[in-house]
Amino acid sequence: MSDPYLDERTATIKRHDEAGFAGMRAAGRLAASVLDMLVPHVVPEALTADLDRRIHDFVLAAGAVPATVFYRGYAHASCISVNHVVCHGIPGAKRLKAGDIVNIDVTVVVDGWHGDTSRMYLVGDVPLKARRLVDITWECLQRGIAAAKPGNSFGDIGHAIQTYAEGQRCSVVRDFCGHGVGRVFHDTPNVVHVGKPGKGPRLEPGMIFTIEPMINLGRAEVKLLDDGWTAVTRDRSLSAQFEHSVGITEAGCEVFTLSPGGFDRPPYAV
Ligand code: MF3
Ligand code: CO
Ligand code: CO
Repeated sequence: MSDPYLDERTATIKRHDEAGFAGMRAAGRLAASVLDMLVPHVVPEALTADLDRRIHDFVLAAGAVPATVFYRGYAHASCISVNHVVCHGIPGAKRLKAGDIVNIDVTVVVDGWHGDTSRMYLVGDVPLKARRLVDITWECLQRGIAAAKPGNSFGDIGHAIQTYAEGQRCSVVRDFCGHGVGRVFHDTPNVVHVGKPGKGPRLEPGMIFTIEPMINLGRAEVKLLDDGWTAVTRDRSLSAQFEHSVGITEAGCEVFTLSPGGFDRPPYAV
């Protein structure tokens, strides 16, 4: 092999067996059900703390636990990121208003397996430029998933996302990435949402990870607020994100976090 480090890096990435895939199916399905449950509640005047409380109660009622409570000092069952917030928005006293675009990101632990997924929600009537960003970001995740198959590399996933986003005159956030997932919440490797074809570790059956592109209408740079969590776009442009947990199969990949209710792409018809 021409790159002597390639095998070494690939070797650090777990190959999960059928039991792992079964575990991820259950965890992924619950995480996606949480996002489905929220659809009628993400409306003007909704308090983000109340949405988080619903998530917390729903997860516990299902006999699972939110992975983010007590995670590195985080205290909530979800991240709720509104408009120019890129990720890790903290639920609290903020009320949603018509025109907002909102990412809700949940990770649940079922029998030790982590289901990690996020979607965008449109609050009331949303301006065209914001809807366009949400559509572009949704398409970025679909293209990333389409590139997640044996024979390709992690760089192919990033390349698929980057070329589409930048072709639409949007930018891809570099400061946060997808990650290996399974019994470990944030496992190796980092799944970068930019890249070059054929670069990075090869994708092999059994690898399980998230793809979670954050796409900005303006520049890619982010800054962290004083709370130590909330990441916002430096230029205050709008940001959107979708996330799925996927496992590489012989044929391509299995998406563990598909919406059971068909609330896959906003606007969600209810
Ligand atoms: N769910 C996020 C992810 O996609 C991680 C959130 S960690 C938290 O990886 F502590 F901010 F909740
Ligand atoms: Co994730
Ligand atoms: Co997540």
